[in-house]
Amino acid sequence: MIIRTLHAGDAGDKALMEAFFNQMGFEARAFFNHGDWNRRFMESYMDGTGGEQSVHWIADDGDKVAGYVFLDQAATGVPWLGIAVAEYAKGRHLGRQLIATCQDWCKAHGRGGIMLITHQANVRAQMLYSACGFTRLGNHSSGEVLFYWRVPMPMPRA
Ligand SMILES: CC(C)(COP(=O)(O)OP(=O)(O)OC[C@H]1O[C@@H](n2cnc3c(N)ncnc32)[C@H](O)[C@@H]1OP(=O)(O)O)[C@@H](O)C(=O)NCCC(=O)NCCS
Repeated sequence: MIIRTLHAGDAGDKALMEAFFNQMGFEARAFFNHGDWNRRFMESYMDGTGGEQSVHWIADDGDKVAGYVFLDQAATGVPWLGIAVAEYAKGRHLGRQLIATCQDWCKAHGRGGIMLITHQANVRAQMLYSACGFTRLGNHSSGEVLFYWRVPMPMPRA
């Protein structure tokens, strides 16, 4: 399995992503793809009709996608993160690897940090974000929980 960027305009990648969304269970449909919002976001990125300011990665498992993560508003100082792991691949630290990919990208591209919101009941995701160094800031105006990760500052020279 390799983590790589999703190729906009690539019909093979789009088919892999449609299958990924189709395999989602209750948790992912409720917490990640409510109202098919993130499927439409992915499709607009793949079709070149939106999402220009976003970067998308997949965990490519050959004939299927094991996990998906994106940074939206990636041109800003603090992009927004979305993540989902395939049902068969959950609980094996793939979520951590996908988030580390986003954190490395932010460090390499001079970003200040990453924001995200998640449902109050999404305890599994909240555990993951805390394990990845995110701080729970409180409630977002949407009613979801707001998390923030700040790119570590270099230590000042003595
Ligand atoms: C949330 C999600 C991305 C986690 O991915 P994952 O690959 O299963 O997570 P990991 O295996 O990397 O686990 C990382 C940490 O999450 C927590 N975690 C994982 N599985 C858990 C579970 N069943 N219950 C509680 N916490 C859990 C643990 O803290 C774990 O670290 P540890 O095993 O060292 O203790 C995945 O469950 C998912 O796709 N959920 C549905 C979509 C979703 O909710 N997306 C987020 C929307 S905001």
